[in-house]
Amino acid sequence: MQPKDLLSLASEYGNPLYVYDASTIEKQYQRLTNAFSKVENLRINYAMKALSNLSILKLLQNLGSGLDTVSIQEVQLGLHAGFLPDKIIFTPNGVSFEEIEEAAKIGVQINIDNLSVLEHFGAKYPKVPVCIRINPHVMAGGNENISVGHIDSKFGISIYQIPHILRIVENTKMTINGIHMHTGSDILDIEVFLYASEILFDAAKQFAELDFLDFGSGFKVSYKKGDIETNIEELGKKLTKRFLAFEKEYGRNLTLAFEPGKFLVSEAGYFLAKVNVVKQTTSTVFAGIDSGFNHLIRPMLYGSQHTIENISNPKGKERFYTVVGYICETDTFANNRRIAEIKEGDILCFRNAGAYCFSMASNYNSRFKPAEVLWKVEKGHLISKRETFDDLIKNQIMIEI
Ligand SMILES: Cc1ncc(COP(=O)(O)O)c(C=O)c1O
Repeated sequence: MQPKDLLSLASEYGNPLYVYDASTIEKQYQRLTNAFSKVENLRINYAMKALSNLSILKLLQNLGSGLDTVSIQEVQLGLHAGFLPDKIIFTPNGVSFEEIEEAAKIGVQINIDNLSVLEHFGAKYPKVPVCIRINPHVMAGGNENISVGHIDSKFGISIYQIPHILRIVENTKMTINGIHMHTGSDILDIEVFLYASEILFDAAKQFAELDFLDFGSGFKVSYKKGDIETNIEELGKKLTKRFLAFEKEYGRNLTLAFEPGKFLVSEAGYFLAKVNVVKQTTSTVFAGIDSGFNHLIRPMLYGSQHTIENISNPKGKERFYTVVGYICETDTFANNRRIAEIKEGDILCFRNAGAYCFSMASNYNSRFKPAEVLWKVEKGHLISKRETFDDLIKNQIMIEI
């Protein structure tokens, strides 16, 4: 998107503001499907936790995507956006059995990552086919919090517990129709991905009635100029070859599924915030914006380095700034970063603000969540309104004290 378009959206809808470029989401979706075009049955289930706005869901549905969900509320949002239950996979972790039952009754694909739940579910609903999330014991991912397939992770059923899974299947007569893994986010090295895939193929051999193999996600995107990203085209070539060979060995056609979040929406997002104060201290120049980790927590939570541009003065001389928020705790977005000269009132643009940004926003410090705008065919469309004071108090009850 052009800075002039972003600036005009900021002046129309106010700050802070999230803007998503529909064409980037479309481009990324096509890139992924093109990379796997030789696979007859490919299924992309968008991991809606990344960005769950209904209009974004609708856009992905129009592209042909299914949905990856982690809570019953995500399932309900997906249905509300128009997805049919058979286009939704439910991959919860640590939720109540009742929540899984509720999803199963709706008819979405259930993905189970715990032996006790599998046994309970199989005994009660032997006729509902389920997918199994395995833990391949692979350390992968850009950060401890998003490395989820290692030996000490809470996610998945250990590959060493497959004999136990098989015993449950035999005892309950349930059907396992899919095998799934997700080793983590921001995986750069496709060899790590392929290595984990071999573990998935190995596990899959033990189940005779599979319809699909789900390789999860974790594709890394570029955060700044020159950043390396997952080479999706090369992964497509290598994994397709291996998948087709596996299908032959397995003796029937299977669906190859992925559930990307970041890959589809990260680069489509722009977060716009106004500079309230420029503060020179003895050693640092702070640029303090009208936002904080209440709106964008990834830099503080994961150490994510979002590129920040001063779109009010893009050609200005670059200086070093530490960009901070207005929250009552240290909330540093970027440390000692080279940015075109900043004046109070300028609009800063954070790149890669599509995934895990708005969806992690909160009302901390009693601030309103920002508005969201979808940029489609050179036009901005408001897709969620900025919150108001009424939103802050709507569920509160002031009792007589
Ligand atoms: C089970 C599962 N699938 C898919 C994703 C999406 O990962 P990414 O956004 O890296 O594509 C996640 C992310 O947390 C996940 O936990």
